[in-house]
Amino acid sequence: MPPHASQARRGTLHRGHAVVQRRLLHGGHALRAGYVEAVAVSPAHRHGGVASAVMVELEDVVRGAYELGALGASDDGAGLHAARGWERWRGPTSVLSPAGTVRTPEDDGAVFVLPGPVALDLDGSLSCDWRDGDVW
Ligand SMILES: CC(C)(COP(=O)(O)OP(=O)(O)OC[C@H]1O[C@@H](n2cnc3c(N)ncnc32)[C@H](O)[C@@H]1OP(=O)(O)O)[C@@H](O)C(=O)NCCC(=O)NCCS
Repeated sequence: MPPHASQARRGTLHRGHAVVQRRLLHGGHALRAGYVEAVAVSPAHRHGGVASAVMVELEDVVRGAYELGALGASDDGAGLHAARGWERWRGPTSVLSPAGTVRTPEDDGAVFVLPGPVALDLDGSLSCDWRDGDVW
């Protein structure tokens, strides 16, 4: 195992990542999603495979327990996730807010999914459940 990968497992070069359960509405179904949060690597240790090693573990969690994976990608993260087989959601995104379904156009094109056993139409609509702060 490369040194950075083993350090990644010990949590010395990165912080804050997690898989949290969320519901995503798509195609008339409330899908149980493993939502990947906050993968970040300290600048001095980037491009050494740390995030990839972290993602291997998070993707195992997603595949083992959820119908799909999802995340809201930064510009930095988009390349990493696309290279790992995550697919960019092309359709309109929205959130199921306390006031009803509200479009989230600022997140269009930044949501990535890791498909699982459920068929997905990447050009269809995708809504996430509500939470405070950044909803995606
Ligand atoms: C995105 C981030 C986590 C990547 O961490 P990392 O440890 O450097 O990633 P890795 O070394 O595992 O990347 C593996 C490969 O993924 C691909 N990749 C990673 N970042 C990429 C990018 N911005 N654009 C294109 N491809 C990228 C490349 O193939 C890369 O190999 P390379 O480094 O030799 O080019 C890191 O840049 C970071 O913390 N950025 C700030 C926080 C952030 O935006 N997090 C992402 C939230 S979705």
